Amino acid sequence: MAVLPLLIYPDERLKQVAIPVVQFDGTLQAFIKDLEETMSAGPGGVGIAAPQVGQFQRIAIVDVSGARRPVPNNGRLLLINPKILAEEGEVKGREGCMSVPDYTGNVIRAERIRLKAQDDQGQWREYQCEGFEARAVLHEIDHLDGLLFLDRLVSRRNDLFRRKNYQSTDKPA
Ligand code: NI
Repeated sequence: MAVLPLLIYPDERLKQVAIPVVQFDGTLQAFIKDLEETMSAGPGGVGIAAPQVGQFQRIAIVDVSGARRPVPNNGRLLLINPKILAEEGEVKGREGCMSVPDYTGNVIRAERIRLKAQDDQGQWREYQCEGFEARAVLHEIDHLDGLLFLDRLVSRRNDLFRRKNYQSTDKPA
């Protein structure tokens, strides 16, 4: 296992659209372990997407179960080739990102989502998420499409905040 180096904004590779996973094999499983370890090593690591470590495949992990403020959650979500099936409601909330260490920002996201994704064996599973977990999932899926929270700020002038220090703040990564 290994903690992988993160791509940091404004690295242009963060804009690359990731391709679907087609091989569900040992190489994939080893990569997922490394991705998970990289997420856990980061401050406030509640989510990570493969493109953040320069692997442009549609893989993300979200786990908000350890958030300081308890929130409804599905535990550890491994999302391979995720697809949003339904979205409901809108809520503005603060986001951070391990690839954007110096800023946080306000982004509008769906309040509740339903999605499907494959697991590490290629099985499709369906999930329902709400609130902070839904926000984290949508943030990570954006990474798969080459988008950062900076691309979705409500207002660049009023909704972008410089971090004083990057601490564990329960922000999607
Ligand atoms: Ni992020």
